[in-house]
Amino acid sequence: MTGITQQMDGLSLQAPLRPLRLLVVYLHLIHSCRGQSQLIGPSQPIVATVGDDVILPCSLEPTEDVAAKTLEWTRSDLNPIFVLVWRAGQDYAQIKHPSFIGRTWLFPDELKHGNISLKLSKVKPSDAGTYKCYIPKLNTEYFVDLVVGAVSLPVMSLAGIDEATRGVVLQCESKGWCPEPEVLWLDGEGNLLSAGPTETVRGPDDLYTVSSRVTVEKSHSNSFTCRVQQKDTNQTRETEIHVTGMRM
Ligand SMILES: *[C@@H]1O[C@H](CO)[C@@H](O)[C@H](O)[C@H]1NC(C)=O
Ligand SMILES: *[C@@H]1O[C@H](CO)[C@@H](O)[C@H](O)[C@H]1NC(C)=O
Repeated sequence: MTGITQQMDGLSLQAPLRPLRLLVVYLHLIHSCRGQSQLIGPSQPIVATVGDDVILPCSLEPTEDVAAKTLEWTRSDLNPIFVLVWRAGQDYAQIKHPSFIGRTWLFPDELKHGNISLKLSKVKPSDAGTYKCYIPKLNTEYFVDLVVGAVSLPVMSLAGIDEATRGVVLQCESKGWCPEPEVLWLDGEGNLLSAGPTETVRGPDDLYTVSSRVTVEKSHSNSFTCRVQQKDTNQTRETEIHVTGMRM
């Protein structure tokens, strides 16, 4: 700071500052162009379906052979945190979190191109989370979010007649969702119907079953749709029913 003040003493502000600013920019450029590779990956979450295999992308830019380096994939919410550790040229499987044993891999041929993308097979709902790829030696890391989805078609049935209103009670159920979805009812014109609360049950496999009932009245059309949707995974499944013999 004192150097700058001294330079400015007795001089116009513009003249000495311009070269100084250029020097600062130049130093920044040298710093970031020194060939220091950094890990990069997707800016959007990766969306996978339960049971599928998925690749979590992560690679060095500019590229560099990393096959001989220690490479880590971790998830800080787990204990142990290790999803995969590559050490001394191989998968150091002993320290993996048990849920990833036999399910996580690197692509050995890609490592020489600085590509440390992770393959995760047979995706489970509990795999959803934030994964960190990290190269300790280069002190660079990148975070990849994984969203896990599962969907299924809703099944509709006639659940009876509402004695009070003489309306028909329709039931809709959909099993095997992840994350938790919402249920909407629509009439034949696409208008939302007001239904009772959605019942949600989470199974031992972490998948959700949702069910909902609606009573449809005489003023409605004969066609009704149960729509189950999950916004994070942008998934929608719907089933339509035609109620015949209803005295409208
Ligand atoms: C890294 O390797 C995986 C698996 O072969 C591939 O799908 C991906 O496109 C590669 N990424 C880059 C940046 O080359
Ligand atoms: C969601 O899915 C619909 C239909 O498949 C598509 O048009 C829309 O662009 C998607 N939105 C996002 C945010 O992915």
